[in-house]
Parts: sequence; structure tokens; C-alpha cells
Amino acid sequence: MGGVNEIPQGTLEQQTFFEAVGGEPTFRRLVRRFYEGVAEDPILRPMYPEEDLGPAEDRLRLFLMQYWGGPRTYSENRGHPRLRMRHAPFRVDQAAHDAWLLHMRAAIDELGLEPDLERQLWDYLVYAAASMVNTAG
Ligand code: HEM
Repeated sequence: MGGVNEIPQGTLEQQTFFEAVGGEPTFRRLVRRFYEGVAEDPILRPMYPEEDLGPAEDRLRLFLMQYWGGPRTYSENRGHPRLRMRHAPFRVDQAAHDAWLLHMRAAIDELGLEPDLERQLWDYLVYAAASMVNTAG
């Protein structure tokens, strides 16, 4: 029992977005579903250099977890994200951008998040996808 002089545990803790959406299992579902879309996509699939999409799935999941306040495993493994630079070898045009967001949208829809959290996640992905475009047309 806390008593009048003790602030109930948890009251002052600022919950991260990562925690609010359900932590790693949520990001695992999101990115798994996204790559199911990528695997079937005629524009995106040929862009991925590796035969196995598993490692790319791990990188994207770890990046998103870190971005939203989760563990910093992405940077421990990969260093500073520098995402625009890392996408420079790939032709990210409007069609690739649209396809990427299409599969993300489908993946987000299946998470069943609270509308406010869902909107935050989606708005970020829309903004980030636009910033990754590096080829006109
Ligand atoms: C706009 C369309 C996009 C396309 C076509 C695209 C495509 C790709 C491709 C082909 C790779 C290489 C696969 C790999 O080896 O990991 C990659 C890596 C990656 N992408 Fe994207 N991407 C897009 C947008 C984004 C966005 C919006 C984000 C973040 C919100 C993102 C995050 C990443 C990350 C974290 C990696 C791995 C970087 C690394 O550590 O090497 N991508 N992307």
C-alpha cells in the first residue's frame, strides 16, 4: 500500500509509443505482413538484393522498434540509420513509393490499433516514404 505520500507506481512513467502499441510482437506482425506483400510485388521484390527476405525483415523491424522508443538493437548492429543514404543504391520512384505504402497500409490495418496510435504510425510512414524517393518518374 502506498499511502498519501507515495505516488502510485507507474504514474510518472512516460510510456513509449513502442510500449503503447504492444511492443515487439506488434512490430513483428507489422513487418511480417508487410514483407508478405513485398514478396508478391512485381516492382518491389526485384529490388531486394537477397534471395531471402528474412534479414531485410529483421532490419526494418529493428529500425522501427528503435525509432518508436524500443530497444536500440538496430543501431548496435547497423550504426546510424542514414536511411536516405542506404536507399541510394535502389531506384525509389513514385511507383516503388506507392507500392511500399500499399503493403504498409495493409499491414497496419491488420494490427487493429487504437485509431490515434494507428494515425501516428501511418503519418510517420507516409512522411518517411516520401523522404526516401530518390528517382523522378
Ligand atoms: C519508399 C519506398 C521504399 C522502398 C522501395 C524501399 C526499399 C528498400 C530496399 C530495397 C532495401 C534493401 C533491403 C535490405 O537489405 O534491407 C531497404 C532497406 C531498408 N529500408 Fe527501405 N524502402 C522504402 C522506404 C523505407 C521507409 C519509409 C523506411 C523507414 C520508415 C525504410 C527503412 C528501411 C531500413 C531500416 C532498411 C535497412 C537499412 C540497413 O540497415 O541496411 N524504407 N529499403
